[in-house]
Amino acid sequence: MADAEVRGDVRVIHEPADLRAACREARARGLRVGVVPTMGALHEGHLALVDEARRRADLVIVTIFVNPLQFGPNEDFSRYPRTLPEDLAQCSARGVDVVFAPERAAMYPEGFSSTVRVAGVSEPLEGVHRPGHFDGVTTVVAKLFGLVGESTAIFGRKDYQQWKVITRMTRDLDLPVDLVGHRTIREPDGLALSSRNRYLDASERQRALGIVLGLRAAAAAFGAGERDPSALERLAHAEIGPRFDSIDYLALRHPETLAPFDGQARDRAVLVVAARIGKTRLIDNLVLGEEPVP
Ligand code: PAJ
Repeated sequence: MADAEVRGDVRVIHEPADLRAACREARARGLRVGVVPTMGALHEGHLALVDEARRRADLVIVTIFVNPLQFGPNEDFSRYPRTLPEDLAQCSARGVDVVFAPERAAMYPEGFSSTVRVAGVSEPLEGVHRPGHFDGVTTVVAKLFGLVGESTAIFGRKDYQQWKVITRMTRDLDLPVDLVGHRTIREPDGLALSSRNRYLDASERQRALGIVLGLRAAAAAFGAGERDPSALERLAHAEIGPRFDSIDYLALRHPETLAPFDGQARDRAVLVVAARIGKTRLIDNLVLGEEPVP
């Protein structure tokens, strides 16, 4: 407890052992534990996950840790926004009980040398363009699940492949965590909320809408019966290509395995995209045949 502070009515924990103890005590009192893992710079997307945790659990924990393991050498680790005081205020306003904000050395002390790797679903798409990224994600999430123990964890489907990778890991390793995948929260004009949106200036912000225009175009055609993956990808590309500086991938995939279709798509298919404007990389997706058009 020496390490914990109380800010407003949120208890801030920095030490892993204190997080473990808080969760254990809560369960001993019959409380359900809910956890929302984040890297901070919280926005309404994250806070929707918090609200979902609040509905499902009695003790709601938000973890805030900019995990160095999941950033590549040329990625934005050092400039990633760090806004802990604002994050704590937002957590307090949304009824969060505990914020776990560890230092890097507490998560990865001298000698740390383990990696959790999920084969298969982690390999295409982000796996190709951000080598090692998902190993970093699954390693830190496995550690968080190990500390929190029996609980419900809420993730956003905005990071669709991440959600599938974490689902696979949790099943494969029998981790005692129930997973909930929350729909993507968007701005009124359709742009998916992201901590990285704050890198965009006004004109880049406007161009970024190309992604949602592309998702809409593909969704309309899918709704009208189009099932040819290349045709659907081309429709999305026509909106995204001209507005973005480059596209890492834009692909129609199987919604569970993220593998390409062999021939026509089925009645559910996920259109996933990662594209760049200047130095800013945005990702988004839509499950055609399941999610409403954004
Ligand atoms: P971060 O990017 O901070 O996202 C934390 C959680 O918020 C993720 O589950 C993400 O999918 C969700 N999220 C982000 N934007 C959202 C939106 N617009 N609508 C709904 N959910 C949204 O994802 C990570 O952090 C990290 O990889 C983490 C899992 C914490 C491991 O370090």
